Amino acid sequence: MSLFLIQALHVAAALGVFTALGAICLADKPGKGATILHGISLVLLLLVGLHLLVSQELLKSGGWWHVKILLWLVLGAAPALARRKLLPPAALLGILLALGALSAFLGLAKPF
Ligand code: HEM
Repeated sequence: MSLFLIQALHVAAALGVFTALGAICLADKPGKGATILHGISLVLLLLVGLHLLVSQELLKSGGWWHVKILLWLVLGAAPALARRKLLPPAALLGILLALGALSAFLGLAKPF
C-alpha cells in the first residue's frame, strides 16, 4: 500500500477519535455509536501509527513517538475523564484538541 494512503489512514483514524470525543464530551448522554467510533478509531490510530514506525524504520529515530503513545493513552482515557466531570466539557475538549495538535506536530517534525 502506498505510504500516502497509510498516512491518510492515520489522519482519518485521528479524525474518527476526535469526532467521537466531540460527541462524548458535549452530549448530555453520549450514544453507543460515539463509544464504538472512539474505540475502533483509537485502535486503528495506534496500529497504523506502529505500522508507519516499523515500515519506515523510525523506531530508533528518537523519543518523539514515545510521547505520542502517552498522548494516545490520554485520548483513550478521555471518556472516563468526561464522565467524572472534573472540567467543563468544552475545556476538556479544548485540552484534548491541543494534545491532538501536539501529537500531529511530533509526527511531522520528529523534534527529538
Ligand atoms: C495521539 C493521537 C495521534 C494523532 C492526532 C496523530 C496524528 C498524526 C499526524 C497528523 C501525523 C502526520 C501525518 C502522517 O504522517 O500521517 C502523524 C505522523 C505519525 N504518527 Fe501519529 N498521531 C497520533 C498517535 C500516534 C501513535 C499512537 C503512533 C504510534 C506510535 C503514531 C505514529 C506516527 C508516525 C510514525 C508518524 C510519522 C509518519 C511519517 O513520517 O511518515 N501516531 N501522526
